[in-house]
Amino acid sequence: MLYSGVMTISVAVSGASGYAGGEVLRLLAGHPNVTIGAITAHSNAGSRLGELQPHLHGLASRILEDTTVENLSGHDVVFLALPHGASAEIAAQLPEGTVVIDAGADHRLQDAEAWEKFYGSAHAGTWPYGLPELPGQREALKGATRIAVPGCYPTSALLALTPGFANSLLLTDDVVIVSASGTSGAGKAAKVNLIGSEVMGSMSPYGVGGGHRHTPEIEQGLSNAAGESVNVSFTPTLAPMSRGILTTATAKVGHGVSYAELRQAWADAYDDEPFVHLLPEGQWPTTKSVQGSNHAVMQLAFDAHTGRVIVTCAIDNLTKGTAGGAVQSMNIALGLDETAGLNLQGVAP
Ligand SMILES: NC(=O)c1ccc[n+]([C@@H]2O[C@H](COP(=O)([O-])OP(=O)(O)OC[C@H]3O[C@@H](n4cnc5c(N)ncnc54)[C@H](OP(=O)(O)O)[C@@H]3O)[C@@H](O)[C@H]2O)c1
Repeated sequence: MLYSGVMTISVAVSGASGYAGGEVLRLLAGHPNVTIGAITAHSNAGSRLGELQPHLHGLASRILEDTTVENLSGHDVVFLALPHGASAEIAAQLPEGTVVIDAGADHRLQDAEAWEKFYGSAHAGTWPYGLPELPGQREALKGATRIAVPGCYPTSALLALTPGFANSLLLTDDVVIVSASGTSGAGKAAKVNLIGSEVMGSMSPYGVGGGHRHTPEIEQGLSNAAGESVNVSFTPTLAPMSRGILTTATAKVGHGVSYAELRQAWADAYDDEPFVHLLPEGQWPTTKSVQGSNHAVMQLAFDAHTGRVIVTCAIDNLTKGTAGGAVQSMNIALGLDETAGLNLQGVAP
């Protein structure tokens, strides 16, 4: 709809009491083309948003409604920030013309068998993948009415290694990725391993040995870039911070590939990107530098001793890793300025 020459879009946000939904609202509150309609929750329906998301000052008096198809219908765009499974059920009942953007995992995987193995339920189908910086992905998102927002770890891992695979510079059978994540990556629900006294001053691995659900998603994205199957060993770790991911991704380089070729491939991939940056040589990514922003920063090195490229990439798991990627994808789908609502810098110190 056009008001005073400005395109205005009505948006509903489900899971608004949670971390991802709260971050979607934080970004949408500053979006020039958006009016925020229904905001919904589950156990917290009926509460004032300000009780649960005290940082969202402009929306504090809004009341959370139940997450039902009726409450979410009638908007141009619906964001789903729900546990996987819950989002597929709701999405299937929303009108085809509504743009549905799912922060959950339900529609990310192309391989139904991989979905069933890692998530243990029936596959709900595959939607266009909301990581516009991947080759050909902007085209896939233009006009899309269903968008699967990537997982937070896959966002950092795919940004880190795709230029190497898309340019056939890396070997596909020896990819090792280790990521450190802030605790918000696990959501807001109370869990003993996430309480302050367990997390403060300590780091711990989990999902070791190929068991993490993001492994098939990372393999899918890298395989699409390479045009052949890529095997990934992925290990996530929990870091004592609320937000942020630092991913270290390494792969063997092809015979004769030079550091200059590697650097050129990454520069060509990202030099024109508004949100993804290959840092100048000698500068390394930090999670703090991207906190609260939709930016991803990375650096690469060539370890001649082992013949490996090492790429480190920092994102904010809640922004570029979820809500920022979701809003960026919405902008592309609707033909808006891709950066609308996302003009946020990092936070320092
Ligand atoms: N956190 C991240 O960094 C991140 C990154 C990428 C993707 N994601 C994805 O985003 C989604 C939300 O994650 P989150 O971290 O925001 O989790 P969260 O903080 O635990 O929030 C979950 C939200 O879903 C609602 N909810 C719970 N059970 C529900 C049900 N059965 N039906 C409808 N709503 C229900 C909750 O409502 P009540 O509070 O009212 O119960 C809450 O609003 C997940 O699919 C997650 O994988 C998260």
